[in-house]
Amino acid sequence: MPKLGVNIDHVATVRQARKTVEPDPVWAAALAELGGADGITVHLREDRRHIQDRDVRILRETVRVKLNLEMSIADEITDFALDIMPDQCTLVPEKREEVTTEGGLDLIANEDRVRRCIDRLLEAGIEVSLFIDPDEKQIAMADKMNVHAVELHTGQYADAVDVETQTRELDLLSEAAAQAHSLSMLLHMGHGLTYRNVGPIVEVPEVSELNIGHSIVSRAVMVGMERAVREMKALLTPPIQLIAE
Ligand code: PXP
Repeated sequence: MPKLGVNIDHVATVRQARKTVEPDPVWAAALAELGGADGITVHLREDRRHIQDRDVRILRETVRVKLNLEMSIADEITDFALDIMPDQCTLVPEKREEVTTEGGLDLIANEDRVRRCIDRLLEAGIEVSLFIDPDEKQIAMADKMNVHAVELHTGQYADAVDVETQTRELDLLSEAAAQAHSLSMLLHMGHGLTYRNVGPIVEVPEVSELNIGHSIVSRAVMVGMERAVREMKALLTPPIQLIAE
């Protein structure tokens, strides 16, 4: 049964739309915990478009479950992470013009910079996960970088417009999951997962953590954060087996 990391970035997006103080992602994190979140995830982007430094600082004090900081490999952000000491850092690619993270981090093209960032975080005792595409070569490179986990990018699966494409993308994710597991890395997944498409992902046996944001925050606008998290958590939880007498 995978753990649920709730990404609360888009609570901050609504706040930043008015550059005011509400809604506060710190409150959202507390309600997500009440709903059963196993972790709180935030992405401190270099352009600070949603989550602010202040949010991460307060969350470090208040979050009682795992705090996962998504971040680029920029030195400035790495310095901040080392100051805050989240439980886990997930390294992601970042482009200023993108609406959201597009594609996984290319570990091969950026090997030296990624290694430098990882080494600093590991030395400080922070667990590191690498957000990558379900690609054999990327997973092999992740293995050489001594990280404890990889997070497979599920965007292609989530965006699939027909069943054949979705099945193909799910197969790619399943193969990549088996490869990462065989190399003794923990297997996380995320991006674009929703109440409708999460089912087959939960069935992938190696998956230990899902990071889900936009869909939960969207539902929370309608039904409240605690209930939205509870409903997603239920989809990750196998039905209780009743033993017949
Ligand atoms: N995992 C990673 C590495 C991400 O960058 C994001 C988006 O911030 C997510 C998970 C969550 O994606 P979504 O908001 O589409 O659920």
